[in-house]
Amino acid sequence: MKTVKIGRNSPCPCGSGKKYKQCCLGKKSVSIAEQYQQRYGITLKTPEQVAGIIEAGKLLTEIMDGVEAMIVPGLATEEINRFVHEKTIAAGAVPAPLNYHGFPKSVCTSVNEVICHGIPGNDVLQDGDIVNVDITPILGGYYADANKTFFVGTPTERGRKIVSVAARSLELAMTVVRPGATLGDIGHAIQSYAEGQGCSVVREFVGHGVGLDFHEAPQVPHVGRPGQGIPLVPGMVFTIEPMINLGGRELKLLDDGWTAVTRDGSLSAQFEQTLLVTEKGYQSLTPFDLGQFIF
Ligand code: MF3
Ligand code: CO
Ligand code: CO
Repeated sequence: MKTVKIGRNSPCPCGSGKKYKQCCLGKKSVSIAEQYQQRYGITLKTPEQVAGIIEAGKLLTEIMDGVEAMIVPGLATEEINRFVHEKTIAAGAVPAPLNYHGFPKSVCTSVNEVICHGIPGNDVLQDGDIVNVDITPILGGYYADANKTFFVGTPTERGRKIVSVAARSLELAMTVVRPGATLGDIGHAIQSYAEGQGCSVVREFVGHGVGLDFHEAPQVPHVGRPGQGIPLVPGMVFTIEPMINLGGRELKLLDDGWTAVTRDGSLSAQFEQTLLVTEKGYQSLTPFDLGQFIF
């Protein structure tokens, strides 16, 4: 192996911008994990932790498949809540949404113009609706977080458009994920595609680190500029969960304090997966096929 000598007056290889002699020279070398914890509050996951998140993700996708099979016109969103709650508990897991900052149910169900955090209840799904189901089990202490937007009965033209753009937004964003890419690259992939399709990207809610807690650092915006923001490194685990509106990006919060709806009443769709940054690129810890939603 060839070793390169770093001059005392050269820029420090840690990226601080200081001279090497005024920074890391003579200090015990700091691991990437320690640097990400100290600089950004990001906890890189160990292989054991990743294995735990994978198990939570398997439970999530099983429950999601069960939900998909039950979606029909006439179903009350409370029935989705009951199903998700019971399947989660039966697996020895805990539904993270329940009582999270006072959220009253075990899953979020967001219909049509609801952007996110819809509360399941007595409202009944109608033919032509779209409904997003966002599931987060805690299994063995590990969190996995994912959502999908389903068609109820026969899709409408506008429903097909917004679901397709949201699914493709996540698919494109995932292809960007690899060591050396930045959070800004992810946001830019989503924003440039979705806005190019005449849709808009919600700013108030973002993806997030996840795994040991529901919402960890970093925040993962769904808009951005190439090359900006935190560089991705192996061991990062975070969600990407673009919320895409058919009309304007503005939202309002309903009086329940949770339900976010489009201000103009236009349709909104979302897809979410939990991703691990690997040496080569990424691995989804909540894998599902986005292609079936893309037209
Ligand atoms: N699952 C959502 C997310 O993707 C968070 C829901 S918080 C809740 O981050 F309290 F509404 F459940
Ligand atoms: Co999330
Ligand atoms: Co979620």
